[in-house]
Amino acid sequence: MKQSTHNNPKQAAGEQAAQLVKNNMIVGLGTGSTAAYAIKELGRRVASGMDILGVPTSYQSAFLAAECGIPLTTLDEHPAIDIDIDGADQIAGFTAIKGGGAAHTREKIVALSSKKFALVVDESKCTDVLAHPVPLEVLPFARKLVLKQVERLGGKAELRMGVSKDGPVITDNGNFIMDADFGKISDPASLGEQLSQCTGIVEHGIFTGVDTVYIGKKDGSVEITSL
Ligand code: A5P
Repeated sequence: MKQSTHNNPKQAAGEQAAQLVKNNMIVGLGTGSTAAYAIKELGRRVASGMDILGVPTSYQSAFLAAECGIPLTTLDEHPAIDIDIDGADQIAGFTAIKGGGAAHTREKIVALSSKKFALVVDESKCTDVLAHPVPLEVLPFARKLVLKQVERLGGKAELRMGVSKDGPVITDNGNFIMDADFGKISDPASLGEQLSQCTGIVEHGIFTGVDTVYIGKKDGSVEITSL
């Protein structure tokens, strides 16, 4: 357990996790409000002389990293990432649901390219059994087919609609997002495998392979659990 000087749980978790990053590392830069605190902290460390290269998981993280002075690279140039720091929508142990910001496809590619995958969350994201709707990135052409396939798996999917935009959310990759409600997910790995087999789903938001979790608490402390 580590103590921060402020009591914003997301900020405490993000800033603590940024301390995992060392000089000369290639770093996956996650998406969302908690990962943003890690990116800002990395920016401060870069300004004090640390050398790193960031691989962004979205336009959001690319823009923020550029504002913070973090030099960026690509997976083509650096296919092996040292550490990825990202947020989550819900987490049970070392399995998470991501994609609330519609970025989970790139987030998963970056996570799977990383030697270490750290999640940063506030304590409200933690649960015993995952039950958050699972974000699905879907090829627009396959919209109706995906609805049917999700139903066959026992879920109910809804197309995510834009806020400040008429019509559906369009991802950074030009696809739709559906949120698929399966109720309580007793076996997330198995559901993930079944979703991976559905035609028209580009990627689902169930993430395994997490090895460290930073949980920010209301009192400013951060609980760190590692595999
Ligand atoms: C982006 O698509 C998501 O996977 C985010 O990482 C997730 O929604 C966490 O966001 P917050 O840190 O803003 O809660």
